Amino acid sequence: MEINKRKRILVTGGSGFIGTNFIRHTLHVKPDWDIVNLDSLTYAGNPHNFQDLKSDQSGRLHFVLGDVRNENLLSQLFSQNNFDSVVHFAAESHVDRSILGPKVFLETNVNGTFALLGESLRSWEDRKRPNDFRFLHVSTDEVYGSLGPHGYFTEETPYNPSSPYSASKAASDHFVKAYFHTYNLPAIITNCSNNYGPFQFPEKLLPLMILNIIEQKPLPIYGDGKNIRDWLFVLDHCEAILQVIERGVPGNTYNIGGNSERQNIDIVHLLCDLLDKRLGRSGKDTSRRLIRFVSDRPGHDRRYAIDATKIERELGWSPQFKFEEAINITLDWYLGNMAWVKSVRSGEYRKWIEDNYEDRENLSI
Ligand code: NAD
Ligand code: DAU
Repeated sequence: MEINKRKRILVTGGSGFIGTNFIRHTLHVKPDWDIVNLDSLTYAGNPHNFQDLKSDQSGRLHFVLGDVRNENLLSQLFSQNNFDSVVHFAAESHVDRSILGPKVFLETNVNGTFALLGESLRSWEDRKRPNDFRFLHVSTDEVYGSLGPHGYFTEETPYNPSSPYSASKAASDHFVKAYFHTYNLPAIITNCSNNYGPFQFPEKLLPLMILNIIEQKPLPIYGDGKNIRDWLFVLDHCEAILQVIERGVPGNTYNIGGNSERQNIDIVHLLCDLLDKRLGRSGKDTSRRLIRFVSDRPGHDRRYAIDATKIERELGWSPQFKFEEAINITLDWYLGNMAWVKSVRSGEYRKWIEDNYEDRENLSI
């Protein structure tokens, strides 16, 4: 009988939203994988996201506090661990923050990816280029820019990023492609649409709106609220990443999407109605009264939509969660985890809310 060799995976940014879900899911479905989580714990990283793991899972997870830009640390980590694969989530990920402070996006998203590519390549070559090593770079559909009312992003769509965030992700994607083409590093890129689900930091649309509805605070909708995003439940994204690590072809890009295009205003209406039912609000107390149309995000992309037929055709992945079902799971998670919410709303969070929203018009109640 063949005994499966244990795998040791480096996950960067594993204490953020998607990384946390990925690690929790992977420890559950891959009992022969050990994970090293390298995270510098910026405002978006939460060290307590794994506190409730049972010992058979927590024993397979090792946390390293550190920065992906730190080449000495990376070199030490690679030589101590001989990683079988790398899953690179670590990034500054919020478009609005990139508008108010773009520099750290360049530093983390481009320089961080560059440092990680360099150490991954060195380690892969030192170990005589193992066939099954993968460098998986987790990227975004925002690199493709904005769509009009029709059409979809495919893997061949030219890059056309609009924000400092998407420009930094695009630049990092190009470095990943260059390391495949120039040095043959077995790298793969995934470009995914908007994720939602448990553990998302409450600066992004869904958790911000959920918490503001619960707390009866204004619901700031940028512009006319008709911008469209394609929404994917985070566990579907995590499962797609696992499929790509195991069966994806080096040098390839895979687009990942949820087939769930929604206008922002429709999402906010839905959240108001679902939470009103749970919180027993009706009549003049309904939460839609909290909606405020505020000045738009500069350079706001109008529509994103993903054509995910390649990953479905080649790897058999498709989203398993229906939008309405997973929105309900997400709402219940936030309602049941207000202690987590409290723990991530530090002074830094309050300062961000002031910086981003105080100059927007119409945001009073
Ligand atoms: P997040 O902001 O919630 O988490 C980012 C994590 O990276 C945090 O734990 C943070 O502490 C860590 N980090 C930041 N800078 C670091 C550094 N220099 N060194 C080490 N760790 C650092 O982000 P997320 O929403 O979980 O996104 C994860 C990845 O997925 C990002 O690369 C993002 O571009 C990509 N992505 C996100 C979405 C989405 O909808 N959230 C969609 C597509 C792709
Ligand atoms: O498309 C994938 C991307 O999705 C990821 O790469 C990013 O990391 C992730 O943050 C997300 O980017 P968006 O800019 O689409 O997400 P955000 O939640 O910030 O905004 C979603 C939409 O809601 C967008 O059209 C802007 C709007 N919005 C957002 C906020 C925070 C509002 O109308 N009001 C708000 O207060």
